[in-house]
Amino acid sequence: MGRVSKTYTEGKARIVGGEGVFLNPAMKGLRDVSVAFLKCSAPSKFSILDSTAATGIRGIRYAQEAGAGTVVALDVNPKASRNARRNFTANKIEGMVMNKDLQLFSIEAPEKFDVVDLDPFGSPAPYINDVLKVSKDGSLLMVTATDTAVLCGAHASACVKQYGAVPIHNHLCKEAGLRILIGHVIKKAAEFNMGVEPMVSLADMHYMRVFVKLRKGASEAYGSMKSLGFGKYCNSCSWAGVSVGITPKAVYRCSECGNETQQFGHIFTGKLNNRRITGDMLKSGIEDGHSERTISCLNLEPEVPFFISMPVITRKLGISSVPYGAVIERLKGRGYAAGRTIFNEDGIKTDAPVSDVVSIVKELKGV
Ligand SMILES: C[S@@+](CC[C@H](N)C(=O)[O-])C[C@H]1O[C@@H](n2cnc3c(N)ncnc32)[C@H](O)[C@@H]1O
Repeated sequence: MGRVSKTYTEGKARIVGGEGVFLNPAMKGLRDVSVAFLKCSAPSKFSILDSTAATGIRGIRYAQEAGAGTVVALDVNPKASRNARRNFTANKIEGMVMNKDLQLFSIEAPEKFDVVDLDPFGSPAPYINDVLKVSKDGSLLMVTATDTAVLCGAHASACVKQYGAVPIHNHLCKEAGLRILIGHVIKKAAEFNMGVEPMVSLADMHYMRVFVKLRKGASEAYGSMKSLGFGKYCNSCSWAGVSVGITPKAVYRCSECGNETQQFGHIFTGKLNNRRITGDMLKSGIEDGHSERTISCLNLEPEVPFFISMPVITRKLGISSVPYGAVIERLKGRGYAAGRTIFNEDGIKTDAPVSDVVSIVKELKGV
C-alpha cells in the first residue's frame, strides 16, 4: 500500500498524506493520462464524482488542471475523507468531500455526473452498477482494475466469477483481460439501457484502465452488446483473432491451419481507442514520459484485435530472434498494416496471415 505522510506535489496539486490513507506516487503517470483525457474529451465546467478518492488527489487535479467545475470526492474510509477534506481546503478546491460507501451514495445521490472516476483496490466489478447509477447520457466513465492476475488468467475461476468471462493465460492475456473488462462494463451498462463507446484503453504494469463514453438508449445498449464476442488462439500455428457474437461455437477452427482453437471471453471485439482523442492527448502534453510513450504507441498500433508473438514463431521454426522493425517494414511492403503493440514487447499487430509473417522471418534469416 503506497503511503505518503509528508507533502507530496503532483501536477498542480499539493497533497499531505495521512496514516492509513492510500497514495501511490507510482500511479502519477496514470493520473497524468486521466487529466489529459479529460482536457480533450470532457465538457467545460464538468461535474465529477471521484468515487474512491483516498487523499482526493484526482478530484483536485481534475479541478486544477482539466477544468472540472463541481467535484465530489467520496471514500468509505473516514481517515481518507478527513484527509481529502484537508487537501481540498489547502488546494482551495470548493468541492464536496463525503465519507460514504459508494453503494449507498449511488442509491441516494440527487444528481448524476458528467464524469465518474472509479479507482478501487483490486477489482472494479462489484462497483460498476453503482457508478452507472450516477451516470447519464454522455457521461464519461474512467475505470481502473488492479486485479490483473485475475483478468490475465492466473486465476481463471475468479475471472469467470467476477467478470462472467473465461480468460486466457498466455502472451495475449493483457489485451484479452482489457477486452474482458470492457465487455463486463458493456454487459452491466446494457442492463441500464446504456451503450458503451471505448475511447482510451490501457494495460500496463499492474493495472488496466478504460475510459469510455456512455450513451443512453435501447438501440445503443443493444449495439454495444453486438460488439461482444470471443477471442480465439491457435496453439498450433499461433494465429489469434476474434469471432463476433454472443453465442460461442462449440468448436472454432483456425482460419489458417484448421486446428481447433482455444476460445476465451466474452470479450469486447471492437476498437479499443479513439484516434482523435489519443492524438489530442499527445498534443495537450502528458508530463510522465512512460505514459506519453504508451499513448503514442497505442495511437500508432494497427487497430486489429490481438497480435503475433515473435518468440512463438521463431521458437517453432527453431531459429534465433529476428529484428522486429525489419519484419514490420516487410509486412508493410506487402501491403499489410503492421506495428508494435502496448500489450507485449515481443508482439506485432498486423492484418497479415501468420503464413506471411513466417515467410518474412525465413527470408530475413535466409532459411
Ligand atoms: C486505490 S485507493 C484510491 C486511490 C486514489 N484514487 C488515488 O489516485 O490516489 C481506493 C480507495 O477506495 C476506497 N474505497 C474502498 N471501497 C469503497 C467503497 N465501497 N466506497 C467508497 N470508497 C471505497 C478505499 O478506502 C481507498 O481509499
